[in-house]
Amino acid sequence: MTALARTRIDEVALRLADTVAWLTTPLLPDDYLGLINPLWSSRKLRGRVEAVQPETNDAVSLTVRPGRGWIAHRAGQFIGVGVDVDGVRHWRTYSLSSAPECADGRVTITVKAVPGGIVSPYLVHRTKPGTVIGLTRPEGRFVLPQPVPSRLLFVTAGSGITPVMGMLRSLVWSGEMPDVILLHSAPTREEVIFGAELRRLASQVPNLRLHEHYTRSGCRLSLAQVPDLVPDWCRRGVWVCGPTAMLQEAETRWREAGIPDRLHVEHFRPAVAASTGGAGGRVRFLSSGQRADADGATPLLVVGEDAGVLMPSGCRMGICYSCTGRLRSGRVRDLRSGREYGEEGELVQTCVSAAAGPVEIEL
Ligand SMILES: Cc1cc2nc3c(=O)[nH]c(=O)nc-3n(C[C@H](O)[C@H](O)[C@H](O)COP(=O)(O)OP(=O)(O)OC[C@H]3O[C@@H](n4cnc5c(N)ncnc54)[C@H](O)[C@@H]3O)c2cc1C
Ligand code: FES
Repeated sequence: MTALARTRIDEVALRLADTVAWLTTPLLPDDYLGLINPLWSSRKLRGRVEAVQPETNDAVSLTVRPGRGWIAHRAGQFIGVGVDVDGVRHWRTYSLSSAPECADGRVTITVKAVPGGIVSPYLVHRTKPGTVIGLTRPEGRFVLPQPVPSRLLFVTAGSGITPVMGMLRSLVWSGEMPDVILLHSAPTREEVIFGAELRRLASQVPNLRLHEHYTRSGCRLSLAQVPDLVPDWCRRGVWVCGPTAMLQEAETRWREAGIPDRLHVEHFRPAVAASTGGAGGRVRFLSSGQRADADGATPLLVVGEDAGVLMPSGCRMGICYSCTGRLRSGRVRDLRSGREYGEEGELVQTCVSAAAGPVEIEL
């Protein structure tokens, strides 16, 4: 069936649903529609994977058609993706790598498989066209302002290129490319995600310069090299996405240069405070009846998952509040700040909180 035919059927079905709502009470037509086509449900936002495009040996781009309830994104934003792996639903966060201007109603995410991970290897190696996945709406502030600054610097490493690729594609689409320098780091030339497209753009788009850095043949890309590579670096708006160490180094350098407001960073993992790692304790998950011994540095989310508790989660880095549980006793430590907290009845973000002594939590 063509995409156009499918869109027409979708429109007719949704109009029909509105018309017959009164006939189907107390169940809503939405319940029936969700059974016929998961993308028609307005209660649960879902998407169908329509294409799987290999990018490197361990990274793919998934083209997804979002269902009812989707809203347009801004280049650089991320979404939540829910998949069932071995019968358990897991949620993770992925940046949108497609330009919002693509008018065919589809978006792409680009996923690099993390060795030993649950969701990313599933998305990279086991996901086929036709797979239906859970989605959350786009959000995030790692976006370009309007008007776009006349000089931009992007610094990325590994899969950190994905939100920046969305921005570059959007700038190309707009036909108004400012002066852009992209410093990108990957283990080898072959492992550069979007390598062929980036090199083609750099050779065709006059204002776009690309500097690739390969870590396997030398050392990691240090931000100390930026002034040599980009002499006017402190006059540029800067967007950085990569490993935590790179982001922390960027924050220090731009702060010391007195221009922290020019720097925008996107974390793929929570930044853990150096002061964390105190004593842990025994954790009782009251609703599921499970117990586990936790150290003072492991998020309660991971402690619970390892103990077989069905733990709700989303971004896994303190953004979305999908993972909260109510504290019944004990205290926890916020791994981002090292701060200890916890009153009886307080909601705890389990993805960024570790046990600070014995803990009882409603989960
Ligand atoms: C805002 C945001 C945007 C993101 N965008 C992308 C994206 O565009 N593409 C992409 O591939 N990923 C992206 N991520 C990371 C993604 O959400 C997952 O964390 C990643 O895919 C690993 O999930 P997993 O289930 O495979 O690993 P898990 O099962 O969660 O973890 C397995 C092990 O890998 C470690 N780990 C977790 N995440 C990473 C990581 N990113 N790098 C190295 N080790 C890790 C864990 O500490 C753990 O030890 C983004 C994350 C955030 C918060
Ligand atoms: S999973 Fe998003 S805040 Fe914890």
